[in-house]
Amino acid sequence: MSRRPFLQLALGAATLPLASIGVGAETLARPVTMIVPFAAGGPTDVLARILAEYMRGTLGHPVIIENVTGASGTVAGLRAARATPDGTTITIGHWGTHCLNGAIYQLQYDVREFAPIALIASGPQLIIGRPDLPAKDLKELIGWLKANGGKATAGTAGPGSGAHVAGVFFQQLTGANFSFVPYRGAGPALNDLMAGHIDIMFDQASNSLPQVKSGTVKAFAVTQSSRLASAAEIPTVDEAGLRGLYIAYWHGIWAPKGTPADVVSILSNAVISALAEPAVRQRFAELGQEIPPPDRQGPDALRSHQAAEVEKWWPIVKSANIKAE
Ligand code: MLT
Repeated sequence: MSRRPFLQLALGAATLPLASIGVGAETLARPVTMIVPFAAGGPTDVLARILAEYMRGTLGHPVIIENVTGASGTVAGLRAARATPDGTTITIGHWGTHCLNGAIYQLQYDVREFAPIALIASGPQLIIGRPDLPAKDLKELIGWLKANGGKATAGTAGPGSGAHVAGVFFQQLTGANFSFVPYRGAGPALNDLMAGHIDIMFDQASNSLPQVKSGTVKAFAVTQSSRLASAAEIPTVDEAGLRGLYIAYWHGIWAPKGTPADVVSILSNAVISALAEPAVRQRFAELGQEIPPPDRQGPDALRSHQAAEVEKWWPIVKSANIKAE
């Protein structure tokens, strides 16, 4: 079966065989579905929807978001891995789905087997707490967690997700003990934090910054060595007393393995064009997201970034004995 039925001339009505079309002249002839592996309204969903809106302009067709949730993005991962590789299905993912999951889950696909499209952006996590938590800084939070050993709860985006892994590292560094409550994404977990049903989260800054600003959650530290330009009042983990707990939560977009190179190129061009839009850049900056320079956004950049992250994190996660349960 041809995997290229969806290419057409950018301006022409007729669908022509790819070989008859000049490089750069074609676009996709059908809407694209972008699988989001977590709940709507969460950090990955928000980035996906911002990009989808602007990719539409380049592709000439809508990019439809489909939230496929469950098991820290592995339900979506299998679905994306098995989709027809013709450019009509792509998936957004991140440090958790396309790196950690490969070390934590027994998967029916390989997180490294997708066709990379673009490296989008990277941002830190925030260590946050429910608004009425009786701790005013990170040291007090650690003391409170120790005093409430076993009773305190941390919301995560699923077993083995980045929020869970960061929480395990936090426990190992501090000796604090708390249990993890899995959700189908950081969006619903944050809702429960604001409602006081759980105590803390290790959350992507893009998810919780608006709530930190409005005072509906407490922020104790940002997991990088410098403060965020968009939230300079939040101390770094180094300043707050947890030196070196750095987490850079990067996002990328992939197609199923076997998607033709010219289709990947069209999709990559659409993402990179969206990332150049001033409105996208401003929105990402507000969300604490750093967009890589243009020469670090394309398929090769994502492939090598993911490979380096797998090489760095798989041994750490395996030696920390972090399990999906
Ligand atoms: C989400 O969109 O819910 C998140 O990306 C989950 C996570 O933090 O891994």
